[in-house]
Amino acid sequence: MNIILLGAPGAGKGTQASKIAQHYGILHISTGDIFRANIKGGTEIGKLAKSYMDAGKLVPDEVTCDIVKDRLTWADVKSGYMLDGFPRNLYQAKELDKFAKIDLCLNIDVDEALLMDRICGRRICACGESYHVSTLNGATTCAKCGKELYQRADDNPETVKTRLDTYKTQTAPLIDYYKAQGKLASVTSGEGSPDEVFEQIVKILGK
Ligand code: AP5
Ligand code: MG
Ligand code: ZN
Repeated sequence: MNIILLGAPGAGKGTQASKIAQHYGILHISTGDIFRANIKGGTEIGKLAKSYMDAGKLVPDEVTCDIVKDRLTWADVKSGYMLDGFPRNLYQAKELDKFAKIDLCLNIDVDEALLMDRICGRRICACGESYHVSTLNGATTCAKCGKELYQRADDNPETVKTRLDTYKTQTAPLIDYYKAQGKLASVTSGEGSPDEVFEQIVKILGK
């Protein structure tokens, strides 16, 4: 099964993707993670992406679409994948339709008032795990691997405001795009705990 995870910044796409990957064994592909890995590796793509990400804007479509198109040629996608953070506008969605067959778009809907706190309180680990300061009890290292936690460069109030605007103007219209294709499934109470949200997803995807 090939799934798109849609939702505003901080909606919980990454959090739920890791639960889905664990439970169903579906491969998780996040364009944000790919860009962050490129920034860390100092590649040309990383240098380009950084300026857009730091500003809360979308990395140019041609670059992003090429990365995903290439990623979907790898052998590990054969038994299904989840796209987290792609597509992010109508152009990307239409391009994706040319090189992939999507079965379902899972839209995680969360009250906007919660997003700023969720994002600015997020701490992440190089292993991919993410946390929120409210549940860390002062811990500064990853419970999974022991590495030091850090904050994403774009997780500051100013950039988050732009990311939310970018979401509203460019990404939210995709809800109607996938509804029209009969592929939309909505998680309507994304405000619940991560486990509660995941329960809803299991109802949609089945055991
Ligand atoms: P990307 O990395 O995709 O970031 P994003 O869309 O802004 O989303 P986030 O990762 O911030 O949120 P999330 O929904 O994954 O939430 P999470 O689960 O971590 O993109 C970053 C940038 O890369 C973009 O701005 C753009 O520049 C570029 N980019 C990426 N893809 C692109 C594309 N296709 N085209 C062009 N540019 C692209 O949760 C957030 C926090 O909340 C965590 O602290 C978590 O612990 C907590 N939390 C999660 N769920 C719950 C819950 N149920 N209850 C309480 N707390 C929760
Ligand atoms: Mg994410
Ligand atoms: Zn870790």
